[in-house]
Amino acid sequence: MGRLSGKVVLVSGAARGLGAAAASTMALEGAKLVVCDILDEEGEDVAGGIQAQGGEAIFCHVDVAHQADWAAATDEAVRRFGGVDVLVNNAGLHLGKGIEEATLAEWQRLCDVNLTGAILGIKALLPTLRERAQASEHGGAIINMSSTSGLVGSANAPLYSLTKGGITLLTKALAVDFGQRGYRIRVNSVHPGMVDTDMGLQSVVARARRLGTDDLELARAQAVRAYPLGRMATTRDIAQALVYLASDESSFVTGIALPVDGGFTA
Ligand SMILES: NC(=O)c1ccc[n+]([C@@H]2O[C@H](COP(=O)([O-])OP(=O)(O)OC[C@H]3O[C@@H](n4cnc5c(N)ncnc54)[C@H](O)[C@@H]3O)[C@@H](O)[C@H]2O)c1
Repeated sequence: MGRLSGKVVLVSGAARGLGAAAASTMALEGAKLVVCDILDEEGEDVAGGIQAQGGEAIFCHVDVAHQADWAAATDEAVRRFGGVDVLVNNAGLHLGKGIEEATLAEWQRLCDVNLTGAILGIKALLPTLRERAQASEHGGAIINMSSTSGLVGSANAPLYSLTKGGITLLTKALAVDFGQRGYRIRVNSVHPGMVDTDMGLQSVVARARRLGTDDLELARAQAVRAYPLGRMATTRDIAQALVYLASDESSFVTGIALPVDGGFTA
């Protein structure tokens, strides 16, 4: 028995990076996966990889900022797997620009994906999450991907920090609300430090720009010095935290902001 046996998990932004690692790790723990992203080919590959390992997975094209995409993916998940037990709001954009350089259009796109995307996901999935939660022993879960930048200010990416801070408090507010309403859906957020993904590289580039250098290794080394454990996170570090929060092992855990950051925010 895997730690997620019998659960259906939908992960947004799962075609690469943290989302892809989370989907694959959760499938190895016995979950059925709904892999969502705007990158169709890469997303199909992630779902195919899970199937090749003997797991069950489908890919759905979801731009998290589009309500119709969420509705279609939810319908497909219900049709194929009977519903969803766990929603992982993982899709996100980075914007490594200061407030003076960032344009209004960039801010609005950041909001559309990082904030509106999470809200639309929760709105779309709530009916099936609630239904499945009532019928299950320990209920369902929503996990929102925030960041260390959603706990402390990021000088390199203040607007990104703002969106991730919003996710931190949306998580806590909904944890209290859904708990009091008896929905049996836990809501938690995960806060990775820097991880070696496409987005991790973007944050290194932003740091290098701030340091006034093209030397990305120098910028990376400077960033790593802020981590007491002396390294960047791996996608596996983050995926393991997601498995815990999705599983019944965390059935009395709701409203937490879990840093997985090698001690950065400590
Ligand atoms: N990598 C890091 O250092 C780091 C640190 C802290 C938090 N995070 C957070 O973790 C999450 C995943 O980051 P990552 O490092 O894997 O990034 P990534 O850029 O490697 O992957 C992000 C994924 O989201 C998808 N995506 C982007 N816009 C989308 C949209 N509108 N609709 C659907 N999918 C969309 C992309 O296609 C991609 O597959 C993000 O929310 C990010 O903010 C990352």
